[in-house]
Amino acid sequence: MKKIALVGCGRISKRHIEAINNTEGVEIILVCDINEERAKATGATLGVPYITDYKKITGVDIVSVLTPSGLHPRHAAEIAENTDAPYIVVEKPISITVRESYELFSRIDKAGKTLLPVYQNRYNPLVAFTKELIDSGKLGKVHQFICNVLWNRNDEYFNIDWHGTKELDGGVLYTQASHYVDMIHFFFGDLVESKGIGGSLRNLDVYDSISAVCRFYSGVVGTINATVDVYRKNYLTEFTIIAEKGTIRLSGTNLNKIDFWDVEGMEQPDMDFTIDHVYGKGHDTMYEYIANERWDMFPSRKDILSGIAVMEKLSY
Ligand SMILES: NC(=O)c1ccc[n+]([C@@H]2O[C@H](COP(=O)([O-])OP(=O)(O)OC[C@H]3O[C@@H](n4cnc5c(N)ncnc54)[C@H](O)[C@@H]3O)[C@@H](O)[C@H]2O)c1
Repeated sequence: MKKIALVGCGRISKRHIEAINNTEGVEIILVCDINEERAKATGATLGVPYITDYKKITGVDIVSVLTPSGLHPRHAAEIAENTDAPYIVVEKPISITVRESYELFSRIDKAGKTLLPVYQNRYNPLVAFTKELIDSGKLGKVHQFICNVLWNRNDEYFNIDWHGTKELDGGVLYTQASHYVDMIHFFFGDLVESKGIGGSLRNLDVYDSISAVCRFYSGVVGTINATVDVYRKNYLTEFTIIAEKGTIRLSGTNLNKIDFWDVEGMEQPDMDFTIDHVYGKGHDTMYEYIANERWDMFPSRKDILSGIAVMEKLSY
């Protein structure tokens, strides 16, 4: 049984708790939050002890870092250096800047630990299937993609202290659309050139709406539009791929549905699935991989670093 400590008992911790509870071979034995009330309440719900200082964590196999994004590098590095946990799960994005990602990996290495980033949408079966179609050449040459993440986040959401800040949040491509930025990097590789143009309806110090146009070394060109400024509620999530031998349009907040399918020699697969919440089911898969020590199912360091570079280039 792998023993886990959660650091950060906010919104996403509920998804981690649910995923861990759904998975054989992993259990939470400790929770931590600098907000003592929150740590205590989470510990009481789970029937496990709580602490407010992550440096006091001991006797666990995995620490999952679920704190505000811009704090991930410091928190993950200090946990690596000050605790005996060999594996450190870090929620997305692992950092806001490429520089901080390099620094984090350097400190993780010196401490002899392993970083496991959360990229739960890569474990979505439809995404894995699409990746296989692209890599195997079944779609022929991919020409273009169109990705739209047109969502709403209300004023209450932006009242949370770290949301909308440059140091801790990074903006719409980091906090809301990061999985879709990861998709374009996962599917098409590294950028040759790009231009992201952003704005902030709410006068934040980051962009809450971005339109970016990109060209990849793989020859693919495309656009990503991401916003949290849609009136009242989430409107649309879509990922369209236009290729030599087919056109595919995925939709749903986790790209969990095939909306359009026209691929040479292939019937549309029956792979749509329902999700209970916007985070999808990928955290469950991630903890299954942890329980079974499938460390190979996590992205490589090179992959993580180039993905953060894509996010940084498109955002600023
Ligand atoms: N994978 C996903 O789909 C997904 C979805 C939502 C959020 N996230 C990521 O999860 C992270 C957390 O987001 P959230 O919405 O839960 O934020 P949140 O503000 O609800 O929770 C963060 C918690 O971290 C705690 N914290 C801050 N500093 C700490 C410290 N030094 N020690 C211990 N606890 C500390 C805060 O008190 C707070 O309770 C972000 O990086 C976000 O991008 C990922």
